[in-house]
Amino acid sequence: MHSISAAAPGKMILFGEHAVVYGRPAIAAPVLQLEARVSVSANHAGRATRILAPDIGLDAELNELDEQHPLAAAIRLVCAVLEVMRLPPCTVKISSSIPVASGLGSGAAVSVALLRALPAFLGHPLPESEVCKLAYEIEKIHHGTPSGIDNTVITYARPVYFIKNEKRGNSIEPLAVGRSFTIVIGDTGIASPTALAVGEVRKAWQTDPTHFEALFDSAGAIAQSARHAIENGAIELLGPLMDANHGALRKMGVACNELDLLVSAARRAGAWGAKLSGAGRGGNMIALCAAEEAEGIAQALRSAGAARAIITTVQENRPER
Ligand code: MEV
Repeated sequence: MHSISAAAPGKMILFGEHAVVYGRPAIAAPVLQLEARVSVSANHAGRATRILAPDIGLDAELNELDEQHPLAAAIRLVCAVLEVMRLPPCTVKISSSIPVASGLGSGAAVSVALLRALPAFLGHPLPESEVCKLAYEIEKIHHGTPSGIDNTVITYARPVYFIKNEKRGNSIEPLAVGRSFTIVIGDTGIASPTALAVGEVRKAWQTDPTHFEALFDSAGAIAQSARHAIENGAIELLGPLMDANHGALRKMGVACNELDLLVSAARRAGAWGAKLSGAGRGGNMIALCAAEEAEGIAQALRSAGAARAIITTVQENRPER
């Protein structure tokens, strides 16, 4: 049976979430242990396009899904771009190890995997730049005013220094990593849709623009310093920058008790710094630590109530310019 499968990794925001929506720089890296996978196979028995996503209990035909359903929207977008009037009967199966609404890019990873698999199944694989661009369109359905950093880091699966710029086009720089570093991700287990947190920050910014612009500036300056530290392999500088970024995010109102608790637990267990990662209000936090301390910190996070803890590494690399 004709069948094509494609995958995309999870992501973590290392510095600059929320402020990045307002044009400040941010840094993100892929989380390669997590992945969304989409397989498309010819469906000889049926005539329709069937969509299966067992993780979220979805088993439906394409035309039963709402226009704004992100999966339906992604499939229709592929058809529009490739000028396919009618899909051949097929089953689109989605599976993912990325927890939903947790700040680890589950929505964007599914979009990217689907935007790779379906065009390839139709015989017209899309270039990565197009996959990234279309995934951004789906991100808008997921959360209204995305910066574009999630679909970018997930498509290219490497650390990026990202600045949103709607007028002139986003600045996307592959980030050199002078020395590998270890991150422990702690999941509060609280689902927090990005759209909600981003919407709350927008309301608060509209109410008090001066205060929020200053917070965004401070997060942007932190991301800039972090970039230099990462490039130069000065990992010891990143811990205090993470702590400062968490402080700014708290002032933006996107922390919560559970995130603060995990951040404190990680620091007490020996992390060099820790912060929430992603949209906040639940979801995940990250802690920077020595590789040999990571297991102990993961254990401390679980004892402090984390639903799960994942150890990951941002690998040393020198991207070509
Ligand atoms: C979500 O991963 C990061 C946010 O900054 C939203 C975005 O950049 O689109 C909260």
